[in-house]
Amino acid sequence: MISRARETLETFHIRTYGCQMNVHDSDKLANLLYHSGLEAAPGPDQADVLVINTCSIRDKAENQLYSDLGALRDWKEAAPARVIGVGGCVAQQVGDSLLKRFPHLDFVFGTHNLRQVPSMLQAALAGQRASETGESRSLERFDMPELHPGMRAQGDGRAFVTVMEGCDMFCSFCIVPRTRGREISRPAAMILEEARSLAASGVREITLLGQTVNAYGRHAERRGRGTESGTMAFASLLAELDAVPGLERIRYTSPHPIFFDEALIRAHAELEHLCPHVHLPLQSGSNSVLEAMRRRYSREEYLDITRALRQAVPDLAITTDLIVGFPGETDSDFSDTLDLVRQVGFVDSFSFKYSPRPETAAIELPNAADSSEAQSRLEALQVLQRELTLEHHRSRVGQRVEVLIQGESRRGKGQLCGRDPHHRLVNLAPGESGAAPAARAGDIKTVDLVEATPHSLIGVLAPGEAQAESVLQVGSLALEV
Ligand code: 5AD
Ligand code: SF4
Repeated sequence: MISRARETLETFHIRTYGCQMNVHDSDKLANLLYHSGLEAAPGPDQADVLVINTCSIRDKAENQLYSDLGALRDWKEAAPARVIGVGGCVAQQVGDSLLKRFPHLDFVFGTHNLRQVPSMLQAALAGQRASETGESRSLERFDMPELHPGMRAQGDGRAFVTVMEGCDMFCSFCIVPRTRGREISRPAAMILEEARSLAASGVREITLLGQTVNAYGRHAERRGRGTESGTMAFASLLAELDAVPGLERIRYTSPHPIFFDEALIRAHAELEHLCPHVHLPLQSGSNSVLEAMRRRYSREEYLDITRALRQAVPDLAITTDLIVGFPGETDSDFSDTLDLVRQVGFVDSFSFKYSPRPETAAIELPNAADSSEAQSRLEALQVLQRELTLEHHRSRVGQRVEVLIQGESRRGKGQLCGRDPHHRLVNLAPGESGAAPAARAGDIKTVDLVEATPHSLIGVLAPGEAQAESVLQVGSLALEV
């Protein structure tokens, strides 16, 4: 038992690994903690409470938690009243065994248990260690208090909105159905209300989230209970959101190819605010590997979707996820992947070496790939992708685009960056006077693209978009430059 030397916890820091769903969960948790009277600390050193939101999609992500927890022994010893919590997918997967293995850990919460964190913190103050990883079928877990002013101040005009959670697809490599549970869709009215209130608070762009986002409402629809459960077809949900005043951009991630129906393709042609970008995970370009992965589509079917999408929106940007070194993948399977990547002409892709995960079907498969072979395939794929991305970026130079400013660019020097509707990263070059562009996070600015680099485009504000003389605005902060 850990006894406490103090009675209040004042500050928190959340460290997040993994996908957008985790980023969104961390935001929800931060909001809950603000409502419990805590303040965000700039980093762990200034925090009383440290929460790690974990990812278990590959073994590397899972091992990151164990190395973080090892390193945090000193953090805790420096001020023993500090509290450490672990949430997210690893917490869901391994549960309270984490408490046994790490005596300095105070609480563990699963992917359905965010709302229990404030009471677990209370318990931690009383010296009790707790673990809550129960799966819930109720929609209550989506009920969150409204955005605390502390959170609003950090806004950059973008927000995530969960439309469905969990996954019933059980691709043979993937641990997500175990860590996120069964598919559940939120009623459309709840989603629309959230979107309206975000738009009213200044959000310009929403990204709809779901493990298989375009499977939204499918269980209810299949059982003829779409209306009763308050869901509707995904394309209809997009149409409703398209009409929300103030929302300029709608995105969604990640769709599954088998739920990519004609209505969704039509939505891309017809809806004004639906962005011309689709992130459509392919995983492999080989039919036999796709079958072993239990992806339930062929390379031909994938190509048909991308062709139909391009017919609907000729300059659509398509990005993807790919896995190399899946058990049994031959040189010829891998060539099929390279070939399909070229044919589709992905603007960007995330590629990974297959990582065997516990309790997944693929862990039983023979013919594991040789690790150095998988590494060289990964590198070959990434070389090809870099060529495609650069070629694509070059083809955009000279065009005028709308950029939603996100904040300061990684290039530093007070430069701003943002994303165009196609989701390309655009870094804003200083104007001729050398002054930083007059823009702040959350603004949408018209930008002329002037240069292509492998990772981004460089743009300048179009004539008529004012240049700042000496003040660069980032979010709610005004920095002298
Ligand atoms: N090994 C490697 N990559 C994986 N992904 C999911 N599971 C694994 C795994 N076991 C990748 C897929 C998925 C992305 C989020 O992570 O490409 O689309
Ligand atoms: Fe994992 Fe497949 Fe579900 Fe995506 S669709 S979360 S890859 S099981």
